[in-house]
Amino acid sequence: GKDGYRHYMEKELHEHPLVIGQTLQRMVDPATRKVVLPELPFSLADVPRAVITACGSAFYAGMIGRYWLEEIARLPVDIDVASELRYRNPPLDRHSLGLLISQSGETADTLAALRALRQTAVHILSVLNVEHSSMARESDAVLGTVAGPEISVASTKAFTAQLTVLACLSIATARARGHLDPLREEELVSALLDLPTRAADALAQHDAVRAMARVVAEARDVLYLGRGSLFPVAMEGALKLKEISYIHAEAYAAGEMKHGPISLIDSSVPIVASAPHTPLFDKTLSNLQEAKARGGRLLVFTDTKGAERVSAIAEQMVVLPHVHDFVTPILQVIPVQMLAYEVAVLKGTDVDQPRNLAKSVTVE
Ligand code: M6R
Repeated sequence: GKDGYRHYMEKELHEHPLVIGQTLQRMVDPATRKVVLPELPFSLADVPRAVITACGSAFYAGMIGRYWLEEIARLPVDIDVASELRYRNPPLDRHSLGLLISQSGETADTLAALRALRQTAVHILSVLNVEHSSMARESDAVLGTVAGPEISVASTKAFTAQLTVLACLSIATARARGHLDPLREEELVSALLDLPTRAADALAQHDAVRAMARVVAEARDVLYLGRGSLFPVAMEGALKLKEISYIHAEAYAAGEMKHGPISLIDSSVPIVASAPHTPLFDKTLSNLQEAKARGGRLLVFTDTKGAERVSAIAEQMVVLPHVHDFVTPILQVIPVQMLAYEVAVLKGTDVDQPRNLAKSVTVE
């Protein structure tokens, strides 16, 4: 049942701290505080490049995974949505890694991409929530997300569990490739282990999120902005809003706004920005100032370190704890998903079963 929550989506949103913790328990040795992946049938040290593919929210998780694999493990990564990957027919040698991400393990596009990658004889590693699924059977190895069953069509907790696995995979890959000294690993793992507590702090921001939701619920179009690993967070926010509230939303990399979408900005198009205090904060802030100067209403997700400067320009903000840059997208996505939920509740839509959508899409 829904355990007293209004919808499965609300219940599942409140499971973020739990599923991040459970997933970490599988991948981090508590004694040594080191990432320990299950045995893989190939060596991460020998992989020259990876191609990530997935659909929808799982694809956005993959985009964040790419930032980590490139930044921390210095592994070249290519990424495409599963329904397009085959048409690019990317040149891959046989030691490459095909990294597939899916909650259900049954998504037809992702399964077809897996089979296409199989033809090029790359190693197939899948990040899956349903461990007895079609994709699990056809993969060389599976990294399980420990999110438990996700009932709501809009994915929430599976997303943060996917990010947690991808973060651990990035650490393990970095170590295997000789790009991670023990001190740095300790720093990154500590940031991960701190997340369940921080995620609970994020959930406690519901009043601020509801206040934002009242503005968004009145809009016809909404623009989501983010930079770096927060760009996929913006994309996830826009997708979730479209799915369950039927409000049109688009996500842009914050710096790309001035190359076109800035012409849309006026007081009727709220701007939802993800702008915590990362090294990219100043640049994002100046993009937001440009939007504000054109009459844009700014609704900003930030952190305690960014709040003072954001408050000078934002109409509303949600302030989360400041955490290590590495884990910032995992934390910041939580209230962004919650915003979509609260807007849908205000709109009175069928939150758990939005029109035209199915939990797992089994046609190509
Ligand atoms: O089961 P999968 O993770 O393969 O599903 C992929 C997408 O269909 C899924 O993430 C979809 O975008 C969700 N409804 C997003 O909330």
